[in-house]
Formats: sequence, structure tokens, C-alpha cells
Amino acid sequence: MKIAVLNGPNLNLLGERNPEQYGSGSLEDLNNEIREYAGSRHTLRFFQSNHEGALIDYLHEHRTWADGFVINPGALTHYSYALRDAIEAVNTPCVEVHLSDIEQREDFRKISVTRAVCVAQMKGKGHQSYLEALDFLDNL
Ligand code: DQA
Repeated sequence: MKIAVLNGPNLNLLGERNPEQYGSGSLEDLNNEIREYAGSRHTLRFFQSNHEGALIDYLHEHRTWADGFVINPGALTHYSYALRDAIEAVNTPCVEVHLSDIEQREDFRKISVTRAVCVAQMKGKGHQSYLEALDFLDNL
């Protein structure tokens, strides 16, 4: 399976940013862990951007390459209808992931506008949320 793993705004600062919420590992550590877990099961591509439009462009550009997407949209989760529409438009299974449990935090984080167009949402398990997303796509 070919899977593209996308991370949205501020996730480039993993390890420095709010480590009690998001852990002490960097984005590179996370991506290495995902790579290791996938082994030869998946061909992976990784992308991070702080820009909504760049994430949307990446989804469009990979819509024929990818068999599945794993996306942590960061704060865009809570308000980006443009990203939501892009996920719907590419018509490729997409799993939404979060390091933290967005249900147990501030009220604005409890709303996900992207969830409805994703095949699943994994949250609250740190790096493990991404690994579970790979397994979910595997079992579709
Ligand atoms: C996050 C949760 C979001 O609310 C936040 O804006 C993030 C990270 C998570 O992985 O827990 O940037 O998506």
C-alpha cells in the first residue's frame, strides 16, 4: 500500500512544543517510528506544512499515487472546511490522527470538521495513534 502521512501547522515543532501534551520526540523521530513500523508493508511519503493551501495541494497531487492518507491536521481540524472538502474530493481513504485526546481538552478542540470525511479517527495515544492509522488502512 502507498500511504502519504501529512502533518499540519506547528507539528514541525514536535519535541519542543508543549511536550506534556505532545511528547518529547521530534517530527523526525515520529516519522522514523512510522517508517520502522511499516517495514516493507507500505511505501510511505511524508509531508508537513504550516499552510492550509500547501496541505490541500499535497492531497490533490497525491490523490492518484496514494492508496491512503494519514493526516494530523493540527488546529485546522477544528475549523478548516477547505481541508475537509479536499479530503472528501480526493476520494481516497483518509485516517485523522491526533497525538492528544482532543475530546478531553478545551471545548474548541472537541469539534472536528474533518472527521466526517475520514474513515477513522485515532487520538490520544501519542505516536501510537499514527501506527494504528496504518493498521486501520491495512485492514480496509
Ligand atoms: C493535535 C490537536 C490539535 O488540537 C492541535 O491544534 C495540534 C495537535 C494533536 O495531535 O493532538 O496541533 O492535532
